[in-house]
Amino acid sequence: MAKPVSDSEKTPQHVAIIMDGNGRWAKQHKLPRLSGHEAGRKSVKKVVQAAIAHGVRYLTLYAFSVENWQRPREEVQGLMGLLRLVLREELAEMGREGVRLRAIGRLHDLPEAVREELESAIEKTRANTKLDLILALSYGSRVEITEAVKAIAQHVKTGQLDPESIDEKTLTDHLYTRGIPDPDLLIRTSGEMRVSNFMLWQISYAEIHVTPVLWPDFGKEQFAEALADYARRERRFGGV
Ligand code: FPP
Repeated sequence: MAKPVSDSEKTPQHVAIIMDGNGRWAKQHKLPRLSGHEAGRKSVKKVVQAAIAHGVRYLTLYAFSVENWQRPREEVQGLMGLLRLVLREELAEMGREGVRLRAIGRLHDLPEAVREELESAIEKTRANTKLDLILALSYGSRVEITEAVKAIAQHVKTGQLDPESIDEKTLTDHLYTRGIPDPDLLIRTSGEMRVSNFMLWQISYAEIHVTPVLWPDFGKEQFAEALADYARRERRFGGV
């Protein structure tokens, strides 16, 4: 394994990952698409452990987008089943390791059984403080921003909010991620140079690391490489 980044100033506080390439991995191995997602589940476990080892405080994983509902029924059902398994089987262990589970997205879109499992895992891990694992489920950034704008407009309509007082913080406080710092590092696997409707507001100043490695092949070493790449960047936030 590559050497962990020891300089805490250079360790990102929040890492967000677009886990891509499960389908291509399955194709490469002549397996059904769902086997790719199953293999991807193992990478999730490895990356959570690596994030804890490196002292990352928040890890957001793009597990299911609003657009993903359009995939074939069989794949959607398979992914939901997998999600339930992860929540039931892995979370107990992650909980013991100090992981607090959180979720962002249109959670009411999820099947009831998944939602119940999710709520229970969130409740059980609420007091953990080592790593916040944030699953983006039925997540879409434009929907998130639209919902925030709607809520803000309601506050204006009822007279609770003066339009003149609306600033960036008002928007930030109405997103699913309220209270969570913006990602410092965005990782995308499988080589695509896209942000795919993921945390568009929150990644404004994030460093982006794209690796050709497919998500099921992504593990501790690749995570350490991404962190090392981040540590080499000079962040200026628009300054000089
Ligand atoms: C993208 O690969 C991946 C997904 C849409 C699902 C991510 C799910 C997992 C990693 C497994 C379960 C983990 C959790 C936390 C539930 P793709 O299918 O778009 O790949 P492709 O672009 O190669 O077809």
